[in-house]
Amino acid sequence: MELLGKRIVLGVTGGIAAYKAAELVRLLIKQGAEVQVAMTEGATHFVTTTTFQALSGKSVFTDQWDARMPNAMAHIDLSRQADLILVAPATADFMARVAQGLADDLLATMVLARDCPLLLAPAMNRQMWESPATQRNVTQLAADGVQILGPASGEQACGEVGAGRMLEPAEILEAVLAFFTPKVLAGKQVLITAGPTFEAIDPVRGITNLSSGRMGYAVARAAQQAGAKVVLVSGPVCFSAPHGVDRINVRSALDMHAAVMARAAAADIFIGVAAVADYRVANRAEHKLKKDTGGVPPIELIENPDILAEVARLKDGPFCVGFAAESQNLDAYAQAKRRKKNIPLIAGNLIQDGFGGDDNRLVLFDDAGAHPLNPAPKSVLARQLVEHIATLTGKN
Ligand code: PMT
Repeated sequence: MELLGKRIVLGVTGGIAAYKAAELVRLLIKQGAEVQVAMTEGATHFVTTTTFQALSGKSVFTDQWDARMPNAMAHIDLSRQADLILVAPATADFMARVAQGLADDLLATMVLARDCPLLLAPAMNRQMWESPATQRNVTQLAADGVQILGPASGEQACGEVGAGRMLEPAEILEAVLAFFTPKVLAGKQVLITAGPTFEAIDPVRGITNLSSGRMGYAVARAAQQAGAKVVLVSGPVCFSAPHGVDRINVRSALDMHAAVMARAAAADIFIGVAAVADYRVANRAEHKLKKDTGGVPPIELIENPDILAEVARLKDGPFCVGFAAESQNLDAYAQAKRRKKNIPLIAGNLIQDGFGGDDNRLVLFDDAGAHPLNPAPKSVLARQLVEHIATLTGKN
C-alpha cells in the first residue's frame, strides 16, 4: 500500500493503449491510491466509462459540462483534489494540446487548471512520435516541468516496429511510486549485489543456495526510486530488473567479484545483499560426471574472495552495507560480521524470515547499535534501509 492516501487523476486519451489503462487503475488502487478517471471523448471509443467506473469505484468524467458538478466547474474541482495527474495513454494530439495550453475538453482543461504535477505516458505510432512537431511538443512539455514516461520501443498495434508504445502498466506504476518517493539518494551511484551464486561442479551441476533475489531487487528498486543511479549485479534469479536499474547478470562468485570490483571505485554506496557462496569447486569437471565410473566423485572446495570485505578495503571506496543471514544469535553474529568486514552498516535477518518469501524482518546494526525494523514486505524494509543509509551518508 505504497500509495495510501494519494489522490491520482488518471486521464485516458484516445489510443489503442487505453485498454491497458484499465490494468493501471487496478495496480494503482492495489497500492492504496484513490483514482479518479477522466476520459477524452476519443478514449471512450476504445474502452467504456463503465470499465473504469467498475475498477475505480468512482464515476468517470468525460464532459466539461457534466451536470454532476453543482458549480459546473468539473475541471477545477477534480484537479484541485489531486496529488498528481497522470495521463496514460497520452496521444500525440493530447500532448500537442497540452503543450499549446489549449483547454478544449475536460481533460485538457483540468491539466491547464491544475496545481499538481503532471506525468504523461505517450502512446502513438512511431512516425507520429518521431515527427518534428511531436518532438517539439515533448521538448516544450519537459521545459514546462511535465514528466514524460517512455515511450517504449517494440511492435506496435499498426504492425510497425519502433518507439511509441506506451510503457506497460507495471512500469508506469513504478514511475508513479518513484515520483512520490523522497529523493534522499539523489546524485548518488549505488552498486548492489543480489540473489545467489552458482558454483559449477560440471557443465550441468552446481552448488547454489535458496536466495530468490527478492531482497536485493527490492533494495535496488528503493534506491532507484530514491533518486540514485543503480547498478545491480545479479546472480541467477527469475525477475526482470526494476525499472530504471542497470542490471549485470553473473553466475559464480568469481563473476560477481569481477563485476563488482570493476565498478566499485565509481560507486558512492555499495550494498551486498547477495548470498555469495563462500566456496567454489576447485576440481570442476570439464565434461559431465558419469555415475558408473566407480565410487562417489570427490568435490574439492576452495574459498571464494570476500567481495564486500574487499570493497570495504578500497581507499576512498564507497560507503559499504552488508547483509547477514543467520539461523541463531542474530545480534552477536551480525555485529561480528560488521566488525570483521570493517563496514559501517549491516542488515541482519534470520534465515527463516528472510530467505525466499516476500516479507522479512531486519535489524540494522551500525556504530549507534541495533535498530530493529518491524516485520514487513521486503519493498517496505528496503525503503527503510535506504532512508537509514541516506541518514548515515548525509552525516559523512
Ligand atoms: O534473496 P532473498 O530470497 O530475498 O533472501 C535475502 C537474503 C536472506 C539472501 C538477504 O537478506 C541476506 O541476508 N543476504 C546475505 C546472506 C549472507 O548471510 O551472507 P554472508 O553471511 O555469507 O555474507 C555477509 C555479507 O558479505 C553479505 O553482504 C554478502 O553479500 C557478503 N559476501 C559474502 C561472501 C562473499 N564471498 N562475498 C561477499 O560479498
